[in-house]
Amino acid sequence: MKIRKAVIPAAGLGTRFLPVSMSVPKELLPIIDRPLLQYVIAEAAEAGVEEVIIVTSPGKESISGYFQPHSALEQRLAASGETDLLARVAEAGNLAKVSFVLQKEALGLGHAVLMAKDAVGNEPFVVILPDDIIAHSPGAISQMVQVSEELNAGVIAVEAVPWEVVHNYGVVDATQVSDRVHKIKGLVEKPPREQAPSNLTIVGRYILPPQVFEALENTKPGAKGEIQLTDGLLALLRGHELYAYEFAGTRYDGGTPMGLLRASLAFALDREDTSKEAVALLREFQYRIDLSA
Ligand code: G1P
Repeated sequence: MKIRKAVIPAAGLGTRFLPVSMSVPKELLPIIDRPLLQYVIAEAAEAGVEEVIIVTSPGKESISGYFQPHSALEQRLAASGETDLLARVAEAGNLAKVSFVLQKEALGLGHAVLMAKDAVGNEPFVVILPDDIIAHSPGAISQMVQVSEELNAGVIAVEAVPWEVVHNYGVVDATQVSDRVHKIKGLVEKPPREQAPSNLTIVGRYILPPQVFEALENTKPGAKGEIQLTDGLLALLRGHELYAYEFAGTRYDGGTPMGLLRASLAFALDREDTSKEAVALLREFQYRIDLSA
């Protein structure tokens, strides 16, 4: 069945971006000139997603403001013939239909996804965590949609990471079935290194059947006292096949200040309109480092 809908949890407190996240939701922080949210929605739209459901929380109203029409601005840009800027202003709204649901209490990622149950209905969908920015063409979701269609099953993005950092992630216990694909036997959220079943960690892209909502309804609080998506997926495994997919592409952690800086530099180097200045900037800093060494 075609994947038409995406759920994007954006209800978190953004503690790693305090104090700026007191008034700017971290999902609206930019890589160069577009918010993190826009990159992941573009990735979803490329994969055929038509409708995006963003889960927000009280105090994060500016997220919906970003996706509303900016008529006055558009009129001004049209009148002054600034077609380039006009296209940029319209870009976010043209990628997909965007709607919002509210998670009133911060009860965890699994609970945030559950808030989108009615909006998703009875069809498979994709969950996208906007902290995880993946650079590749075709995008990670497009790659996963293909794998999901081939296997007729749920697919979760994973990457192999150094063992020292596995405790920061959801981790899969899986058997490799082909080059990039592993059949999942178990999952665990943020295990201590000694208890991690592998170093294949979950990256924020999941193609899931609608039955995950029922699983989440029955999921008790787990790691950090929160209702974890990973625990819901473990319950889902009882009746459904899930595969881990090692996507092609580079993952950037947009959820931390230095991760966002790294992504910004990488994207600036790749973009035609910014690469020259980015190279000059990095040379300047290399020079400074050499001088102080
Ligand atoms: C969440 C998930 C975790 C996953 C991670 C990927 O954790 O719970 O399983 O590995 O995203 O970014 P968080 O980063 O929200 O703590």
